[in-house]
Amino acid sequence: MDGAFDRRRDQAPVISSRNGNGVLVPTAMASTQSRLSLSPNTEHKPDSYEDLPLEFDPLLFSCLERYLPPSVLTSSRDSKVEFMRDILLKYSPEGERVRAQKHREYREKIIAHYQPLHKELYSMHATDFFDSSFLKAIHENTEESFRSIMSEPAPGIFTFKMLRPEFCDWLLKEVENIDKWVIETQCKIMRPNTMNRYGAVLGDFGMDTMLDKLMEDFVRPISKVLFSEVGGSTLDSHHSFVVQYGIAKDVELGFHVDDSEVTLNVCLGEAFSGGELFFRGVRCEKHVNTETQPEEILDYSHVPQHAILHRGRHRHGARATTTGNRSNLILWCRSSVFRELKKYQKDFSSWCGECQREKKERQQLSIAATKEELLKKDGESVS
Ligand SMILES: [Fe+2]
Ligand SMILES: [Zn+2]
Repeated sequence: MDGAFDRRRDQAPVISSRNGNGVLVPTAMASTQSRLSLSPNTEHKPDSYEDLPLEFDPLLFSCLERYLPPSVLTSSRDSKVEFMRDILLKYSPEGERVRAQKHREYREKIIAHYQPLHKELYSMHATDFFDSSFLKAIHENTEESFRSIMSEPAPGIFTFKMLRPEFCDWLLKEVENIDKWVIETQCKIMRPNTMNRYGAVLGDFGMDTMLDKLMEDFVRPISKVLFSEVGGSTLDSHHSFVVQYGIAKDVELGFHVDDSEVTLNVCLGEAFSGGELFFRGVRCEKHVNTETQPEEILDYSHVPQHAILHRGRHRHGARATTTGNRSNLILWCRSSVFRELKKYQKDFSSWCGECQREKKERQQLSIAATKEELLKKDGESVS
């Protein structure tokens, strides 16, 4: 981390908006009345803003609250909201606000009309959802327990048995039910991402409560240990969806990186052939198109109920599903802290294969130069 970030952090809290642009609240720009404290009141327990119709993420308000000046901190929740909203509005682009508001309305409309098929999927029932070996490892919560249920076929790619077959079946049926509802109501839904035309964003259908838990209590503890250098311990949001492949659906998926710090990809079934994932090394933005090293090549065949966990920046794609249908549950887990810090860094050798290679090369050059220097000195003292 360079000094720039330290200085900023000393001045004011850094706020992340949804598009990932960090917005700084410099004291000089806030009016006298709406000035935040320089350091947070760590003893203060922030209110929850989840139930309010806000144009910003409710979590943002809870985070910002500790920085309120003492006179506002003890006021009513409504006055605190008003105060923080005033500050946030100054820094949030209009377009982003409109987009977030529209998306909220879109979700509300779906949730008000869609009838879930398997209600048990909408809250966390760990013993019904997960394989006992996975639950035991999570319960023990140590690197050793996680590694004991995992294989690591290539550095930074972990596979393990995660789901019970019943859960896979329920989720597949729920997505089928969503598809049916979409056709019947002719509702235009947003598909998981720019590359997948089949499947559903589960949060849009009300599954966020369960998925938040899945990220917080299951993915984050593992990522904290295995992916700490890419924000594994501070994962705080996710984009979760089911994708479907088959002859009549999407067949394959091109080479790409995910918009995530850590991706959990679990195969739900059903019977299929083909559809192997291919991995080609982790890269930062600058190096995303650099050559693959032989040791970075991994091809992996999905196994139903089994998960694969990898960094979002691990370049990958999926080969054609040649027969049958393949469905996967995918969580793109993100860390706003990591994204903010990344803006002030240039060297990602703790996770980017190419940054690592360049660093090694620089070190070797410097060792060679030192050696040459010493030899020269030696030669001079002998003569
Ligand atoms: Fe992906
Ligand atoms: Zn790099």
